[in-house]
Amino acid sequence: MKFYIATTFSLAIILGEAQLGSTQARAGPNAQQLCKNGKRTMFPHEEYCDYYYECINGEAIVQTCPNGLAFAGHQKGLNSNCDYPHRVGCPDGSRVMGQQPISSENCHWQYGVFPHATSCTRYWHCWNGTATIQQCPFSLLYNDAVHACDWPDNVPDCQKHPICKDTPNGAVPIEKSCVRYWLCVGGYPRLQRCPAGLALNTNTFKCELAQTVPGCEPPPTTPQPDDDDELKSGGNENGGQNSRPPQSNGALPQQFRPSQSGVRLVGR
Ligand SMILES: *[C@@H]1O[C@H](CO)[C@@H](O)[C@H](O)[C@H]1NC(C)=O
Repeated sequence: MKFYIATTFSLAIILGEAQLGSTQARAGPNAQQLCKNGKRTMFPHEEYCDYYYECINGEAIVQTCPNGLAFAGHQKGLNSNCDYPHRVGCPDGSRVMGQQPISSENCHWQYGVFPHATSCTRYWHCWNGTATIQQCPFSLLYNDAVHACDWPDNVPDCQKHPICKDTPNGAVPIEKSCVRYWLCVGGYPRLQRCPAGLALNTNTFKCELAQTVPGCEPPPTTPQPDDDDELKSGGNENGGQNSRPPQSNGALPQQFRPSQSGVRLVGR
């Protein structure tokens, strides 16, 4: 079986077949039996996570997942029947990936999530061989063991976050924000927020009355802008002339707000 798959696979390359999902090969007797009794339509390959069987007219046909993906189940994957190997539990002790990786710039396989060579806060998302840079939100770091952004404490090779490089213990201002800042403790940043009516004074690194913090004074005449406006302008890297937008009047609750785009300054 191994030899047979290797043969069809190289043949597919020779023929320049981009869509390897169409690769077909004869299946072993067990697979044929499963298809004959009509109980299954699609089932995993015995040896390889990235191949699977499909029963077509009672016959078991070997199908191939896109390069880097593994069989997840009928229409259960990210890409129809296939998904990231770590999401389907591959390798699992008995099955491994059977294809060779088709690598391109920043992509070890054509599909997958891969670490950045030099950054702990960024990673690559590869789709059909095209890499797109991704940025972990807040103070999270990319953890290749789980293929996701994670707390710095869990990322062995990136114990210290770049935000806290110069100030491992203390406040680090966030550009364009008067009220939010990073508090670094032992090299780990946590997003903080000044109490209502206060703004971070970047000279003293303390939250002080907004009226006394240059660039953060509330405007005297216009109605106080909503706090979300501050977040939006914080997320615009080419924001307005006033890099320290007016501060909220404090009517809004001060809770931590994780879901906005204003925190894209991580690891810059
Ligand atoms: C993958 O990219 C190639 C060319 O780079 C293209 O011909 C092919 O259609 C793409 N396949 C998918 C599934 O998007």
